[in-house]
Amino acid sequence: MKKILVTGALGQIGSELSHEFNARYGNENVIVSDVMVDTKGIYPENVFEKVDVTDVDGLEKIIKRHNIDTIIHLAAILSARGEQDPELAWHINIDGLLNVIRLSIKHNIDRLMVPSSIAVFGPQSTLYNAPQETILKPNTMYGITKVTGELLADYYYKKYNLDFRGIRYPGIISHKTMPGGGTTDYAVEIFYEALKTGHYTCFLSSEACLPMMYMPDCVRATIELLEADRTSLKHRGDYNVGAMSFTPEDQAAEIRKYLPNFTIDYQPDFRREIAKYWPASVDDSSACADWGWRPQYNLEMTVKDMLVNVAKKLEIDFKI
Ligand code: NAD
Ligand code: SER
Repeated sequence: MKKILVTGALGQIGSELSHEFNARYGNENVIVSDVMVDTKGIYPENVFEKVDVTDVDGLEKIIKRHNIDTIIHLAAILSARGEQDPELAWHINIDGLLNVIRLSIKHNIDRLMVPSSIAVFGPQSTLYNAPQETILKPNTMYGITKVTGELLADYYYKKYNLDFRGIRYPGIISHKTMPGGGTTDYAVEIFYEALKTGHYTCFLSSEACLPMMYMPDCVRATIELLEADRTSLKHRGDYNVGAMSFTPEDQAAEIRKYLPNFTIDYQPDFRREIAKYWPASVDDSSACADWGWRPQYNLEMTVKDMLVNVAKKLEIDFKI
């Protein structure tokens, strides 16, 4: 891994993962890119390239210009936005991915990492301790694109020896960059509203239990899989990783320990239907066995850290 290209680097995960790459591999070796042009000062130390991943020529120029040998492909449309515009989700998540795969083969990319998601599961999957291998027939376009990505990972690994890796991320909780149109976004929004107004209206139902992960664990999991010895990996683009599972009600109760007057009510919308067929928890024994995955953050630690950091960001006086 000498020169890394990160697509979708201005998003929730990219904006934190890329900084960890800077620290580990040197900012001169991390090229960040996104379709958006306003970097909001996130990357003062990196070369930033504006590129739309559906533009294969534009992507190729960047790969050649910087002698890229590792690609972290994060550009995507997430679940809720994907249901509002399914064709756009397919176009960016699949046509964009195929461009990245094509160029990875053409330019002998050493390692390609593409996230998958808990959205690969569906009504016929086992939704408690969802197994690594189970029926994957999601009922969202986003889920369909993620299952397709996982299948492409296996296909291009076997046929072209492409070292393609990926994690089925749970809902990611973080405070630096807001999430971009997913079903688990509520679990981030709740902190802002709890601190600003003391009340949150949740778009999922009170009992929707989903797997979640705090950003430091997400970054660490990604780097651990990226750096894992290829020979130890028995899966390609589809590792289940677990950290914690909770309902909006559980999260509200944890927030109330620090903000006792916090209230929550529920006005479920179309995202409730998406969450309904996502797992409550996942079996991550393959990730544990193959590359030593262990989560560090539980709900209690996440809530404390989020409240402190979101309060700082909002310039609200708050102490634990
Ligand atoms: P995000 O929406 O926050 O960021 C995606 C970024 O991609 C944005 O900055 C956007 O501008 C960019 N982008 C969109 N279309 C593009 C295009 N055509 N060309 C180039 N850039 C484009 O998403 P994220 O949460 O950072 O997710 C990153 C990856 O992780 C995605 O593959 C997502 O499916 C996956 N994932 C995320 C979560 C989560 O909870 N955040 C959970 C599971 C999987
Ligand atoms: N957090 C993501 C979403 O809600 C899961 O892939 O879309």
